[in-house]
Amino acid sequence: MATLKFLSFLIFQLFLIANNCEGVEVGFYKKTCPNVEAIVKETTKHFISIAPTLAAPLLRMHFHDCFVRGCDGSVLLNSTKGNKAEKDAIPNQSLRGFQVIDAAKSALEKECPGIVSCSDVLALAARDAVSLINGPTWSVPLGRRDGRVSILSEASKNLPTPFDNFTTLKTTFGALGLNVKDLVVLSGGHTIGMSHCFSFSSRLYNFTGKGDMDPNMDQNYINHLKIKCKPADGTTIVEMDPGSFKSFDTDYYTMVSKRRGLFASDAALLTDTQTKHYVLSQLNQHGSTFFKDFGESMVKMGQIGVLTGNAGEIRKHCAFRN
Ligand code: HEM
Ligand SMILES: *[C@@H]1O[C@H](CO)[C@@H](O)[C@H](O)[C@H]1NC(C)=O
Ligand SMILES: *[C@@H]1O[C@H](CO)[C@@H](O)[C@H](O)[C@H]1NC(C)=O
Ligand SMILES: *[C@@H]1O[C@H](CO)[C@@H](O)[C@H](O)[C@H]1NC(C)=O
Ligand SMILES: *[C@@H]1O[C@H](CO)[C@@H](O)[C@H](O)[C@H]1NC(C)=O
Repeated sequence: MATLKFLSFLIFQLFLIANNCEGVEVGFYKKTCPNVEAIVKETTKHFISIAPTLAAPLLRMHFHDCFVRGCDGSVLLNSTKGNKAEKDAIPNQSLRGFQVIDAAKSALEKECPGIVSCSDVLALAARDAVSLINGPTWSVPLGRRDGRVSILSEASKNLPTPFDNFTTLKTTFGALGLNVKDLVVLSGGHTIGMSHCFSFSSRLYNFTGKGDMDPNMDQNYINHLKIKCKPADGTTIVEMDPGSFKSFDTDYYTMVSKRRGLFASDAALLTDTQTKHYVLSQLNQHGSTFFKDFGESMVKMGQIGVLTGNAGEIRKHCAFRN
């Protein structure tokens, strides 16, 4: 089953490579839209200065975009009659921040109409969001084109779940060309943002279906979370990195090492020698390499299955195909 899944991913990747000889590159719009980076940054800054919690969903949106059909802006497409889009799948539609992308895109359409793809706007906004809340910055290779398809069921199938173990995570990431280091580094994105209780409450109340708790979560933390999250709570949200959920820092690795990672998928990073070593090394050296590593893995993630050349289109409005 896993092999089959892997094979179909591989074929999908080969198909994408075959259709796109050209890659993405830093400075792609140098001649056609020289202010693109400044415009996206200004817009992102405008929104985040009013609502700093918007940084997290923008980062997460880029991740979801890339993991489903490649980074092609498909996560931005609205549903149409008879077709539910990826947007509708995201656990209880918890993705936010579409208005930031739409605003940046409409500013770009005034300056250089029909030139900049929505997938590129999203990749830039995710980078700017992270750097605006004290995180690292990195150069974003550009030149992605937008896909025309967005299917709900693909999002449910291809995105990792918070219940995944290490083996499953490794396979999911590996099928997209991301290695174990990318997995542990990109998981550090959980140093910002919020989560619904239902994404982890089985760890508090019913881990193996016998009314038990996850033995891999710190007991004191379980008690603390149980106060916030009652069983079957479908609406409450909690900070993933309590105290600094609006600041991009290295606390994620401190939390995970103390067995206070929120999801089973976070805790899973302690079950493999390589990822455990990374977690502990960031802890002991106060995250000395995390910021640099994060930029590198984001650039890698941002190149998954991109459409370039004549593939896809440059959408006029990010919520709709042309
Ligand atoms: C390793 C596999 C991953 C799993 C299983 C996972 C799962 C989740 C889940 C379940 C949530 C909470 C959703 C909710 O309940 O509302 C979440 C939130 C978040 N994730 Fe991940 N994620 C993963 C990887 C990543 C990556 C690679 C990034 C970015 C680099 C990322 C960035 C975020 C952010 C920023 C949030 C907070 C969103 C907000 O505040 O609205 N995640 N993730
Ligand atoms: C697209 O869908 C979102 C909800 O997912 C909605 O808020 C927005 O108004 C829609 N955009 C347009 C232009 O219809
Ligand atoms: C990981 O999860 C998969 C799918 O749920 C399962 O088949 C596999 O046995 C698990 N692996 C380990 C080591 O627990
Ligand atoms: C715990 O999980 C089991 C198996 O999924 C289910 O039958 C049971 O009703 C659950 N108990 C609670 C309290 O949710
Ligand atoms: C999330 O889904 C659950 C179960 O489908 C539902 O009871 C709950 O109201 C939903 N929450 C939100 C915020 O949509």
